[in-house]
Amino acid sequence: MSLEAPVARSEPKTTELLFEPIRLGRMLLPHRVAMAPLTRSRARQPGNVPTPLNAAYYVQRSSAALVISEATQISMQGQGYAWTPGIHSREQVEGWRLVTDAVHAAGGRIFLQLWHVGRISHPALQPDGMLPVAPSAIRPAGEAFIENDRGEGELVPFITPRVLDIVEMPYIVQQYERGARHALAAGFDGVEVHSANGYLLDQFINSQTNTRTDAYGGSVAGRSRLLFEVVEAVKGVWGGDRVGVRLSPLGTFNDIGDTDPETTFGTIAEQLSSQDLAYLHLVNPATADLDQGRAPNSRALAILALIRAKYRGTLMLAGGLDRDSAEGWLRKGRADIIAFGRKFLANPDLPRRLRERAPLNADDPTTYYGGGAKGYTDYPTLEQERGEAPKPCVDDRWR
Ligand SMILES: Cc1cc2nc3c(=O)[nH]c(=O)nc-3n(C[C@H](O)[C@H](O)[C@H](O)COP(=O)(O)O)c2cc1C
Repeated sequence: MSLEAPVARSEPKTTELLFEPIRLGRMLLPHRVAMAPLTRSRARQPGNVPTPLNAAYYVQRSSAALVISEATQISMQGQGYAWTPGIHSREQVEGWRLVTDAVHAAGGRIFLQLWHVGRISHPALQPDGMLPVAPSAIRPAGEAFIENDRGEGELVPFITPRVLDIVEMPYIVQQYERGARHALAAGFDGVEVHSANGYLLDQFINSQTNTRTDAYGGSVAGRSRLLFEVVEAVKGVWGGDRVGVRLSPLGTFNDIGDTDPETTFGTIAEQLSSQDLAYLHLVNPATADLDQGRAPNSRALAILALIRAKYRGTLMLAGGLDRDSAEGWLRKGRADIIAFGRKFLANPDLPRRLRERAPLNADDPTTYYGGGAKGYTDYPTLEQERGEAPKPCVDDRWR
C-alpha cells in the first residue's frame, strides 16, 4: 500500500493575486481591489456635512476591499476647496455616521482620510478670512476653488500663505488627533493620514516648499517631523494597525517638489516601517506615463522599488492601473493592494467587473466635483445594465 498522497486529478488553479484575500491590520480583506480617496465636493452647505446622498454613493462602492473616504478636513483651517466634508463639528460626525453605518450594513470596511491642505487654500475658505498656513511663505502656482457671493464655485489665484510659528505646531498635531477621535466616534474602521499631493504634511516634507531653519525644516528628519508627530498622535487614538499613511513620491501636483526625493521618501518609508501601521499607500509616480499609454519611467520604478525595500509592511498603490497591469504589478511584488480611483468613481461594482472581465463605464470628469446625483450615484452596476436590477435614479432634490 502506498503512503503517498493521491495525485490531484484537476489542473492546478491559477489564482489571481488581485482576488486573493489579504490581512490588513486586524481586518481580513476579501480581495485587493481598494477604492482610492476621491474628493467629490458634495457635502451639505452650510457646514460641509456628509449627507444621505454621500452615504448612497459610498454604499454603492462597499464591495471594495477597503473604501478610503474622500479627503476630509480636520479643521476649518484645514479646508482648501468649497463643499468638501469636514470631521471637526458634531454635525459632520453625525453625517459621517450615516456613511459608515450604511457601508458596514452592506459588509464593507471604510477608513477616513484626514486632511489639512496648508497653503492650498484661500482666505475665502478660512475662518474669519485669515491667511492659509504653511511651512514657509511660498505662494503656490495655480488657483483655489472657492464659493463666490452667488453661491457658485469659482477659481481664484492662490496667495502667499502665513508661516506657521513653531509654537503653533502642537496645535496642528492636535487637529489631527481630534480628527482621529471624531473618526472613531463616527464609526470608521480606521484612518488614513493624507501626507500626499502637495497638502500640508507634504509641504513640510518636500524641500521646495519647506525652507525653515527650525526643528521642522532642513534635514529629512526635520521636514518629516510633523508627519511623525501626527502619526504618533493618531496611533494614540486608533492603534497602529488601524492607521494608514499616504505619500506621493516624485509628486508635482500643487506645485510641489524635492531636490532629492529618493533620500527624502526612502528615509521616510524606512522610518514608517517601524511604526507597525496598517499600510503605506503610495500615489504611483508613473500615473501620467500609464495614462498616456507609455511605459513607466525608470525613475518612478526605481523609487517604488526603493520604498518597497525600505517599508516592510503592507503597501498599497494607486494610479493609472487597470485589471491586467494591476495584476502584473502585484505579481512583480511592487505592491500588495491596488487602489483604483477613476475606475471606482465610474463603476460602483468595480471588483465584480474586474473579476468577470466585464466592460467598464467611462468616468465623466465634468461631474467630478460638486453637483448632485448626476455623475455621482447614477453610474450603473452590471446588474442594472443587464436589466437584473432597477436603474439608478437621479433625484433632482440633491441638485
Ligand atoms: C476626482 C478625483 C478626486 C481625488 N481626490 C483625492 C483625495 O481626496 N485624496 C487623495 O489622496 N487623492 C485624491 N485623488 C487621487 C486618487 O486617489 C488617485 O490617486 C488617482 O485618481 C490615481 O488613481 P487612478 O488612476 O486609479 O484614478 C483624486 C483623484 C480624482 C480623479
